[in-house]
Amino acid sequence: MAVLPLRVAPDPVLRQKAKRVRAIDPKIEKLIDDMIETMPVVHGVGLAAPQVGASVRVVVVDIPDQGPVALINPEIVKRSGEREVSEACLSVPGYRGWIKRSNSVTVKARDRHWKEIRLKATGLLAQCLEHEIDHLNGLLYVDHVESQDKLERVEAEEEQGL
Ligand code: NI
Repeated sequence: MAVLPLRVAPDPVLRQKAKRVRAIDPKIEKLIDDMIETMPVVHGVGLAAPQVGASVRVVVVDIPDQGPVALINPEIVKRSGEREVSEACLSVPGYRGWIKRSNSVTVKARDRHWKEIRLKATGLLAQCLEHEIDHLNGLLYVDHVESQDKLERVEAEEEQGL
């Protein structure tokens, strides 16, 4: 396993639509292991493959009381409610912004054994899932910031990021 360097904006890989995974192979398994090793080092709650330079539909999220889980080809199949949240991204250092996210989401994905799974989430985990799946579509949270006054400069921080 290896800790991978993080890609930061304006790296073009962050703006690509990531490719679907067709099957689990050693390369995907290594990517998942490396992302899981990298996530705590960069203080991530979640990490999407494009953030480590791989344009494939893989994310890892740290689920409370469960630990890190890989989601392959994740899709949001249901979302409900709306709330305003303060959000930041490990790939957009130095900023934080207010955007709208869902109250809860249901995500369908494959796990690392290619088993289909469904995950229902609220709170930070729901926010994290929407954020990481956005990364797979070449979107950054700043794309959801409605006006410049909702984006603020912040000092380099050690808090958890997405
Ligand atoms: Ni991010």
